[in-house]
Amino acid sequence: MAFFSNKKSDTDIHKLNIPKHIGIIMDGNGRWAKKRHLPRSSGHTQGAKVFRKIARYCSDIGVEYLTVYAFSTENWKRPDEEVNSLMRLFKEYLNEALRDFKDDSIVVRFIGDKAPFSKELQELMIKNEEESKSRDGMVLNIAMNYGSRDELVRAVKNISQNVKDGSMDIDKIDEATVSNFLYTANQPDPDLIIRPSGEYRISNFLLWQSAYSEFVIMNTLWPDFTTDDLDEAIRIFNNRNRRFGGV
Ligand code: IPE
Ligand code: IPE
Ligand code: MG
Repeated sequence: MAFFSNKKSDTDIHKLNIPKHIGIIMDGNGRWAKKRHLPRSSGHTQGAKVFRKIARYCSDIGVEYLTVYAFSTENWKRPDEEVNSLMRLFKEYLNEALRDFKDDSIVVRFIGDKAPFSKELQELMIKNEEESKSRDGMVLNIAMNYGSRDELVRAVKNISQNVKDGSMDIDKIDEATVSNFLYTANQPDPDLIIRPSGEYRISNFLLWQSAYSEFVIMNTLWPDFTTDDLDEAIRIFNNRNRRFGGV
């Protein structure tokens, strides 16, 4: 099966093995807007609508964990106007749309460093986490100001601190220890990572966790992404032979 695909298929999704954890790099909003001679912010607005739909669809088909990349540690480099419009959009979402997830019993978590966001946004993120934590549905990790290198540096610092103050034995540090110091502690690694918009790179997303993830790159730009595209990615995933280093 090709690494790259954009073909549509009519396979019944319910007959397929649904990945337990899916990661999505929601990319292509700017190009979508450019093609329509619209400001980049309208691509982000459309992308946010798609996010809402796809998250609920994943929950409906039985995905247990969904991690979406919404804003990277590197995205602060964008022009102020774009960053400001993204912050406005996040605020709107955290105020309204995330309430929808209540009907689907979705647990909302934010992964990444909240500190650089405004106090208002930070409070909204915490409120969403608190309100949803006792639900029993899909876990939705929204990666905001997330960077995998930053996550690993933070883990190294926290582990070092524990060794320094004597609460951790250096000889007992293993792979599970590192996993437990990441934002995704206690969650399974992603089985499938989807990148729309045709870019063949990871852009600092889940470096440690994706060691054995299957990657599906799709040409569709995120604001055009549909539930059929998600079905197609899952179908491709079903045709992969995961060996994890074995035979
Ligand atoms: C992804 O779309 C959204 C964010 C990174 C916030 P882009 O804004 O990167 O869209 P392109 O890649 O420029 O088309
Ligand atoms: C990755 O997309 C980050 C998000 C989708 C939030 P980018 O558009 O920032 O990645 P690059 O710059 O193309 O690698
Ligand atoms: Mg991009």
